[in-house]
Order: sequence, then C-alpha cells, then structure tokens
Amino acid sequence: MICVCSIIGYKGKQSAAPILVDSLKRMEYRGYDSVGVATFKDGDILVKKGTGKVAEVSKSLNISAMSGMIGIGHTRWATHGGVTDSNAHPHSACKNNIAVVHNGIIENYKELKEELIKTGHVFSSETDSEVIAHLLEVHADRGIKGSLTATCKRLKGTYAFVAVFQDGTIAGARYEEPLIIGVANDGYFISSDVLGFLQYTDKAIFLDNYDIVLVDGSKMEIFNFDGNPVAHPITQVAWELGEVDKGKYAHYTLKEINDQRVTVANAARQDEAMMEKFCKVLSDAKSVYITGSGTSYHSALIMKHMLARYAKIRAETVMSSEAQDGLVGLDEGSALVAFSQSGETADVLESVKIAKKQGAKILGIVNVTTSSLARASDAFLSVNCGPEIGVAATKSFTGQLALVYNIVSSLAPDTLAAGEKAEFVKAVEKVIASSQLAIEKMASKMEQVNDIYLLGRSTHYPIALEGALKLKELAYVHAEGVAAGELKHGPLALMEKNTLVILLNPRDATYNDSLSNAHEIKARGASVIGISDAGSEVYDHWVEIPHMTEEAFYPIVEVIPLQMLAYYLALAKNADPDYPRNLAKSVTVK
Ligand code: F6R
Repeated sequence: MICVCSIIGYKGKQSAAPILVDSLKRMEYRGYDSVGVATFKDGDILVKKGTGKVAEVSKSLNISAMSGMIGIGHTRWATHGGVTDSNAHPHSACKNNIAVVHNGIIENYKELKEELIKTGHVFSSETDSEVIAHLLEVHADRGIKGSLTATCKRLKGTYAFVAVFQDGTIAGARYEEPLIIGVANDGYFISSDVLGFLQYTDKAIFLDNYDIVLVDGSKMEIFNFDGNPVAHPITQVAWELGEVDKGKYAHYTLKEINDQRVTVANAARQDEAMMEKFCKVLSDAKSVYITGSGTSYHSALIMKHMLARYAKIRAETVMSSEAQDGLVGLDEGSALVAFSQSGETADVLESVKIAKKQGAKILGIVNVTTSSLARASDAFLSVNCGPEIGVAATKSFTGQLALVYNIVSSLAPDTLAAGEKAEFVKAVEKVIASSQLAIEKMASKMEQVNDIYLLGRSTHYPIALEGALKLKELAYVHAEGVAAGELKHGPLALMEKNTLVILLNPRDATYNDSLSNAHEIKARGASVIGISDAGSEVYDHWVEIPHMTEEAFYPIVEVIPLQMLAYYLALAKNADPDYPRNLAKSVTVK
C-alpha cells in the first residue's frame, strides 16, 4: 500500500492537537482519504484516527481536545488497498510505545513484515508503513538514535516518516520524500510541506536524503543514517506561501481560476540575473529535452513549439513517467528543462536523476522555490503564482505558459517582443470577466454529457489535451484531446448525433483548416462548441476570446474557458472540484 500523504510533528509549549489539526487542514490538498493524530502526555501515547476529511474526522473523534504538547499527525491518500480506519496513520507497534506517520512506499515491506511476524509481532493494518513502527520497537534497546539509524538501514523504497516515542521525543527521517523542520520560538515542527507550519514560523530547515532529525527535550539534532552529525542552514520561507484562504470564493479552484488575472503578470516578471543564467544554459546546450507530468507536461509541449518557432531551438519532449526510455543518450552538452508546480513529483525528480547521471544540466520551472526540483536544478525560474491548493492545476499552468513566453522573448527578442506581454495579461483578465456566466450556464445544460472531444492544431493541441485532463479530473467526464489534423485518420468515425466537440480555433494560421474540421463534424450530426475570436454559423455555441495580435498568446487565453467549464460541470454533477476523487495534489510516489 502506498500513499501520498501529509505528515506533521510538533513539540513545543502549546497544546499540540489543535495545531496538528490546523496544519493537516492546510495540507489536506495533498491527500484526503483518512486522518489521524497521536499525542504524548505523561508517558502515554494516545492515537485517534479515521476515514474522511480532516474537519469531519477531527470533529467526530474530538481530536482537538487531545491533551499534550507533543504530537504527530497525518492525512492519507491511498493508491492501493482499502481506505479503512485501521489503515489510517499513525501506526503503533506491539507495545504501543511508539507511533509513526509515513509518506512514500516501503518496497521491501512484505519481507520485513514476514520476518517481524515470525518473531512474534502482531500487525493491525495492511499498510507498508506499520513495519517502521515495529522495526523501531525491535531496535529500541539501542536507544532512540540507534533505533532510528538501524530502522532506516533496513528500509528500501522512498519515505519520510515522523515518530513519537514513549519519552516524548519526536523524530523524523527522509529518503526521497520531502521532510522539513520548522524552527519556532517555542518549539519545533517536522513536516512534509512548509504549509504545515508556515502559520507558526517562517524559519525552515530542508532535510536531505539520509537525514534524521531528533527533538529531545528542547534540543534538536540532525544526523545521517550512520549517526554522524549533519549541519543545514535555516532558510527564511516567504510568508505569502502561507496565504491559503479561499476568500469570497466557494472553492479554491474557482479562486485560483480568478487569481490568473494577477498571476500571469507575476510569472511574466522575473529576476533578470536568474533569467539570464537560465537562458544561457538553454542556448549553450547542444541538445534540449523538456519534461513534466500531467498539466506540466502540456506546458512542456507548448515550450517545444515556442522554442522551435521563435528561437530556432529544437527540443525533445519526454513525459516524466517515460523518462527511462525517453532520456537516453544525453551528455554534458544536454539540458533538461523540468516543469513541476510542486517541484516534488516523483516522476519528474526521477527524470532529473536520469539526466544528471548522464551529465546534463537541469533547468527547473517550479512554483515552490524551496522544492526538491528547485534545489536539484543548475538554474531555476519560478512561476510565482502563490500556493495552488485546488488539486487541478489552473493558475500554475498559465503561469508556466507566461514564463515560457518570457523565456522565449529573452532568447529571441526580435521575434517575440517582451513588450507584448501586456497583451496576454489584459486578454486573460478580459476572458475571465466575460466568459464566466456564459460558461456556468452552458455547463448547467451539460450534466448528461459523458463524452467530449477537444480538437486543436499546433499549440492548440496541448490545450486540447489540457482541457480534456481538466474535464476528466474535475467533472469525471470522458474527454479526449485530438490533434485536429488527425480527425480524418480515425476519430471522425466517432462523430454522430449527440457527440460533443470543443474546437480550439482562434484566428491564426490554423484557423481555416480547423474550421473545415468543424464542418466535417457538423455534417455527421455532432455538436460543436467553438472557442475563437471569430464567430461562425457552424458553431452550436461560440465562446468568444479576445483577438491577439501575437498568435503565440492564444493558448494562455483559450485554456481559461476550459478550466471554467470543468469547474462548473463538476458543480453540475455534484462533484467537489477542490478534492477530485482518487487524486492528490502532489504525487510524490512513482
Ligand atoms: C492536473 C494536475 C496534475 C499535475 C501533475 C504534475 O490538473 O494537477 O496532472 O499537473 O501531477 O504535478 P507538478 O506540476 O506538481 O509536477
């Protein structure tokens, strides 16, 4: 059983449980199947856990009332196995003198579990995580520090875990999963995400692989799996990261769609020295590869087009999950551009590892500047759009596109002028203001729709893929992005009465060919929604977008009506757009 989860530990002078519940709520976007907290008081460890969202579980189990100034907490997103109370974290060992929360996957848990069962250990969950608690118990005679190093040496896979021990010590260890210490005036936090403690302190220590942290009494110590001391600087994290309020909006997703009025401008504004360094690595590279997962991969596809068209740089795109085969033959002359909002996606970090092994330079495009990807990059740029809480990427996607425009105009100012940035910033604002009501109305009539095809050519094809991804994940509709030129090579067979097609058809070089496709589709009885700056009688619905003098800017504008459609269709289908079923914001396991 593997999970993409949030973990938090606190040891300080305040009551731990309310702080842990508050932190878990802020990190809930990472995973939200089940919740649990363990607190320590007077030599006892008390565990409460159950399935559901943080607010529900903490209310029904009265978690905030748990006493003690030391504790650990967890929200879980399971990808295998059942979502049950017993599988929820924290997990204890046989003597109930240790409780553990874990993020990642323990690959050798079956053999460890068999070995532990043979020596009399009794397991109470089906999780891989529980073996950590039992191993700590097995090695307890070596002292807490010794039990941690001995346990970490037995684990294979990827993990970050936090444990509370019977003397009130809390400790954490990491290998290939994020773990960060928050240093407050009156205590310490150990969390998978800075959002877990940013409301209490902006001072953070980012742990590396093979690091263990131990908070014993009021003293904190970091050492490696061999027990040797490790020193890391304290970093001051931007407070804005902590602003995760929905404000007047019903959902984070709607807020983040609206935030794009401002965030695209933020992404287009970059520190000149960082931009120069990034572009130098890119233009010096003999071969360029671009990677990302999901939405971030769609940005990679657009960057490939833009680099070729405006900067005459040829690049290969590789889905991060396919990097094993896709990133063969890189060398010291290669550069890998890696897109990742979170900067923690396991597939992306794996592709970075593969590229680095071959000597390639890494250029990161992140939103979280303290992330593993940012730290692994030779140069990185930030989309700078603030925390994205909605599970579906919206403002981070348009931020990535605005940043791509900026990079390309820095590389080739004569072909894509930086001054034209103002045009897409205004257009984004206009399309948000003008299309919201119409799309809401359209979505309310689409409740029965189960299949949608999205068509586009050139840079509009990645937007068709992105629109389809949003519709799938938010509205649970089968949606497929199709390269419009491929219609006659197969998908036309699916066009009949009741088929719904969304055509991305702005007035650029692709316009006439795509309009012909609209006629072919209509002739088979299907309905067409046209997203365009030009109306046509062939469209059953026309979603008007502003006309752009620079055609490279259409993708950033035309994706917004698709984000809105996915959001409002989710509402029409009674789905929660902020927490789509089975998904998590940050996929830190492969
Ligand atoms: C889709 C979505 C995911 C992410 C993907 C990569 O709306 O959010 O497809 O884009 O999991 O995440 P990052 O960009 O954090 O690497």
